Amino acid sequence: MKKCCSLSARASRPLGFQQTRLYHLLITGSLKALFLLFASLCAWYSGYLLAELIPEVPLSNTVYSIWSFGEKPILRAPAPKRQKCDHWTSCPPNTYAYRLLSGGGQDKYAQICFEDELVIGGETGNVARGINIAIVNYVTGKVTETGSFDMFEGDNSGPMVKFIQSAPQKSLLFMVTHDDGSSRMKDDAKEALRALGSKEVQNMKFRSSWVFLAAKGVELPTGIQREKINHSDEKKNRYSGWPAEIQIEGCIPRELS
Ligand SMILES: *[C@@H]1O[C@H](CO)[C@@H](O)[C@H](O)[C@H]1NC(C)=O
Repeated sequence: MKKCCSLSARASRPLGFQQTRLYHLLITGSLKALFLLFASLCAWYSGYLLAELIPEVPLSNTVYSIWSFGEKPILRAPAPKRQKCDHWTSCPPNTYAYRLLSGGGQDKYAQICFEDELVIGGETGNVARGINIAIVNYVTGKVTETGSFDMFEGDNSGPMVKFIQSAPQKSLLFMVTHDDGSSRMKDDAKEALRALGSKEVQNMKFRSSWVFLAAKGVELPTGIQREKINHSDEKKNRYSGWPAEIQIEGCIPRELS
């Protein structure tokens, strides 16, 4: 039986063979070590040379001089630009920017902003309980009328219908509620709002938050959000007795001349 790799088999090799093999190992081993040392010396030296070649300026100076190549060094991000009517993104050219905000709570007044002008609001002092309406000339972009119609006290449905009917063709109508905009609204007033495209007017209840955008003699783009409502709900109301305010913002394409 042949035992190729047994201890006895190795020991039986001549001594001279084992010695030359050892020498061989030693020599190749030290050659490898020398080469490694040489290679690392080279690497270190080339790194050293490279470092010498680069002028001794702090990195920040280099960056600064690149900046000063332009007009001014910009050291911090510029403040975000405020958009018309506090929009998140700017309206495209040749459009009107608007934002409708219903009232929410005692001191959170309803607002109508058109082309960055506060048309109705607390600061302008012309917001009142009920339905607040602004009429804008679509062609010129000028606000022509504003009005407030109390729907909690008095009979203001008739005056509101007259006001809406007085708006000429090519008008934009913006409406927002503050506090209660429905308790005393009569059918003729509801009908006038329905005729302008409101789908929520018949659902309005005491203190429902409501915003509505309408147009007379102008075709508004179909994708535009025109109406939003939030009802008062004692269990969910954000303010005591009032639902959260709601808003619509957007851009209306101007008339092409
Ligand atoms: C409606 O108002 C309630 C609080 O009054 C709020 O939690 C809810 O998010 C509002 N809904 C909308 C659509 O704004």
